[in-house]
Amino acid sequence: MKNSVTDTLQRPLRDLRLSVTDRCNFRCRYCMPEEIFGPDYSFLSSDHILSFDEMERLTKLFASLGVEKVRITGGEPLLRKNLPGLIERLAVIDGIKDIAITTNGSLLKKQAGALKQAGLHRVTVSLDSLDEERFSSLNGNRSSVKRVLEGIEAAADAGLQVKINMVVQKGKNDQDIIPMARYFKEKQHILRFIEYMDVGNTNGWKMDEVYSKQEILNRIGQVMPIEPLSPNYTGEVATRYRYLDDGQEIGVISSVTDSFCSACSRARVSAEGKLYTCLFAADGFDLRNQLRSEKSDQELLDILSSLWNHRKDRYSDERREGKTSGSKVEMSHIGG
Ligand code: GTP
Ligand code: 5AD
Ligand code: SF4
Ligand code: SF4
Repeated sequence: MKNSVTDTLQRPLRDLRLSVTDRCNFRCRYCMPEEIFGPDYSFLSSDHILSFDEMERLTKLFASLGVEKVRITGGEPLLRKNLPGLIERLAVIDGIKDIAITTNGSLLKKQAGALKQAGLHRVTVSLDSLDEERFSSLNGNRSSVKRVLEGIEAAADAGLQVKINMVVQKGKNDQDIIPMARYFKEKQHILRFIEYMDVGNTNGWKMDEVYSKQEILNRIGQVMPIEPLSPNYTGEVATRYRYLDDGQEIGVISSVTDSFCSACSRARVSAEGKLYTCLFAADGFDLRNQLRSEKSDQELLDILSSLWNHRKDRYSDERREGKTSGSKVEMSHIGG
């Protein structure tokens, strides 16, 4: 039975973002800089991360509170052993209509078929440049553009819906906006440009490194005219546009210059089982302990409902009002 909940700002709970590992085979500077996430960094051990049984139980509970969409994140989720086994279990949960994964794409070629077969609907691949040298320097020399593009095509060939995420940093990869736009227009994959955000505590974010939504739209519009599209659903993170000539869709995710907290229906669970009610939260609520206690489903539901009822997060709106400070959860713990 469904028992929908709302928070203090009347926002429902619709999306669950489930991180399945805190590890990644990339070292993107804005997320896991090499000098901090080096050989001595201690990642979570296997008994500290949620098991598939625990994730399945949690997802069922979230679904009964109104969650319809699950996004699997990391770190890099394809590093989690037997991920298709988890997808298979989540795909059949009553009420879950959409299962997607956000990945760096480097391991996708091998796994795309099995993921589709398991019931995955969509995949979003992060790619910040088509230039091999720049891509390599952005991700800590870990993989190649060629390999990621092969992963993207394997996913499309397997019948998965594909989107591409490009984080734009002024002076670092803004020169890649047009080549990326051209390439994915031609390939007919939806490309979304993401404003560089102040997530975590290690990327040394500065406002003047943000390439704004308006700058992105102007730059593209000068070369390939576009027009706005209406949102697919309330609270959609990306604002959508399409090219006038062929109708191919693109999107811009503007958490910095045009925030969207008022419709945020996303809950995030880290690999160690902490519930975060905002991407920028300082700390999360330990669900792992609760799951490993003798609590009944009803008792867990009461805890989740109460946490959501008390939620008042609106970090990106507050950033625009100049009101933010303090430490935040690392992006690699909750996968964006
Ligand atoms: P669709 O399901 O295809 O609409 O994708 P999505 O936009 O919900 O998910 P995706 O993981 O592709 O989100 C893209 C990026 O947008 C994330 O990696 C984050 O960088 C950013 N983002 C997503 N949700 C939020 C949010 O709630 N707050 C903020 N500030 N940024 C978000
Ligand atoms: N700002 C914006 N997006 C980010 N991502 C990671 N760190 C940041 C940041 N500081 C994106 C990744 C990926 C998703 C998981 O989040 O590129 O697309
Ligand atoms: Fe880069 Fe994503 Fe890995 Fe972070 S989790 S280092 S953004 S590939
Ligand atoms: Fe939601 Fe927090 Fe992002 Fe605002 S900043 S949209 S509340 S996750």
